[in-house]
Amino acid sequence: MLDSIDAKKFNTLIEINTLINSDYGDVHGLLTRIIDSATKLCEGEASSLLLVDWEKRELYFEVALGSKGSEVKQYTVKLGEGIAGWVAAHNKSIIVNDVENDKRHNRSIPQSIGYESKTMMAVPMRIKDRCIGVIELLNKQNGKYFSQEDLEWLEIFANQAAITIQNARSFARVRDQIATLEEQLKTGDGYHTLIAKSPLIMERLEMTDRYARTDSSVLIQGESGVGKELFAERIHLQSARKDKPFVRVNCAAIPEGLLESELFGHVKGAFTNAVQTRRGRFELADGGTIFLDEIGDMPLALQAKLLRVLQQKTFEKVGSDTTLTVDVRIIAATNRDIERLVEQGSFRSDLYYRLNVLPLYIPPLRQRPEDIPELASFFLKSMLKKTGKVIEGFTDEAAEALIAYSWPGNIRELQNSVERACVVGAGPWLGPGDFFPDAAGESQSSAPEGDRNLKNAINAFKTHYIRKVLEENRWNQTETAKVLDIQRTYLSRLIKELRISNLRDKNSRPMI
Ligand SMILES: Nc1ncnc2c1ncn2[C@@H]1O[C@H](COP(=O)(O)OP(=O)(O)OP(=O)(O)O)[C@@H](O)[C@H]1O
Ligand SMILES: [Mg+2]
Repeated sequence: MLDSIDAKKFNTLIEINTLINSDYGDVHGLLTRIIDSATKLCEGEASSLLLVDWEKRELYFEVALGSKGSEVKQYTVKLGEGIAGWVAAHNKSIIVNDVENDKRHNRSIPQSIGYESKTMMAVPMRIKDRCIGVIELLNKQNGKYFSQEDLEWLEIFANQAAITIQNARSFARVRDQIATLEEQLKTGDGYHTLIAKSPLIMERLEMTDRYARTDSSVLIQGESGVGKELFAERIHLQSARKDKPFVRVNCAAIPEGLLESELFGHVKGAFTNAVQTRRGRFELADGGTIFLDEIGDMPLALQAKLLRVLQQKTFEKVGSDTTLTVDVRIIAATNRDIERLVEQGSFRSDLYYRLNVLPLYIPPLRQRPEDIPELASFFLKSMLKKTGKVIEGFTDEAAEALIAYSWPGNIRELQNSVERACVVGAGPWLGPGDFFPDAAGESQSSAPEGDRNLKNAINAFKTHYIRKVLEENRWNQTETAKVLDIQRTYLSRLIKELRISNLRDKNSRPMI
């Protein structure tokens, strides 16, 4: 028969088990609950749960209960030092009922916080036999000594705590994998087909293949829509890293305040354990390539951190001082005049030189007319596949008009134009009128009537919504970008791409 204390212990264990299996969210809460129960049931006065940071070879306090709990949390303990450090280093449990005379005892923390322990027991938390942390109980109440039975109970609770941590770590890993997959899904299978015909682009491809054989940073420059991202993909796919992740980050599309944690990850609080941390894109890209798009929009403070990653391959998560090391190849791109940004002081020159080890300039479409018919046919074919429409191709006049046009929006504009022609064109051949409808009046409606595909609907919504917020903010782009929570440069690009203009300005009579 169990005595009443044992029954209480069993009940507590069952409750904890239920919680472990139902809630992966609040790991810190669950660990606190486990050690609080262990402390009460083993009649300790105070207790701590420490986790091992194997890289730094030290332990930090994840949970500390008792009168000095919050003070003790600011300390760390070296592996092998003090009783908790000894337990972690030896992966063994101990009872010390004469702490003062135990030579393993380290007096520095108790002296600093003014809390002496007389009796103590400490047990390791293990995942697959490896010690990941230590639970220690201090001062059995009423001057009693900790018993072998107390120690065995504490081991059971430590086991529960280890399972909690293991679950949470697996959960975090799966969540990260999902994030990576989602990222890939956004762009179909993740990679695009690169169409190339012109000598200018063939040259660039040769260069790209040479670049792929190295690990140096590449800086891709060129106007908007010329295919910089496709060249970045190509470098990765031709490199030895091709089976590892290719992680894209659009530095302009992520709000400034979130960019650092997006890149480097974050921890939930200064001393929160690894299970609650979030991995950043650099960690996700480990072994592979990171593509930093719109690098010219990166805030100066972050540029300094990026420079360090380039120089030392190390960084810290936001809110943590643990240094992480990654093996990531960096490819950056920008459509801005980065040399000008350097001159103006809004882009660090040292970072620029570090990124620009292998420069790659992608010329605009108007300088490579040979690519236009190839690209147009490619976009037409993929549209026909998607829509099931039957169209034979382009008339000669249409082909000539496409080649003659200057394509300020480059390939992106050509792609949109073919898609639109495919939707509005009656066929069976597409003529120039299908590509270049009278621009007047058209510029404001991004979705032609009767065209109900999702992309156009989204663009129509974006156009309408952005214009509305612009109007609310008297067309002040800085204010509007704030409301939309995007960067101003990104907003101005959207305005250009969606051809949003201030109708009222144009149409209203001048104010006198
Ligand atoms: N050579 C190419 N072959 C096929 N498609 C291409 C090619 N170049 C670009 N594209 C397509 O054109 C569009 C724009 O390309 P991409 O996003 O790489 O441009 P970008 O240079 O990164 O522009 P931005 O500076 O605006 O980000 C994409 O949809 C891409 O798939
Ligand atoms: Mg791009």
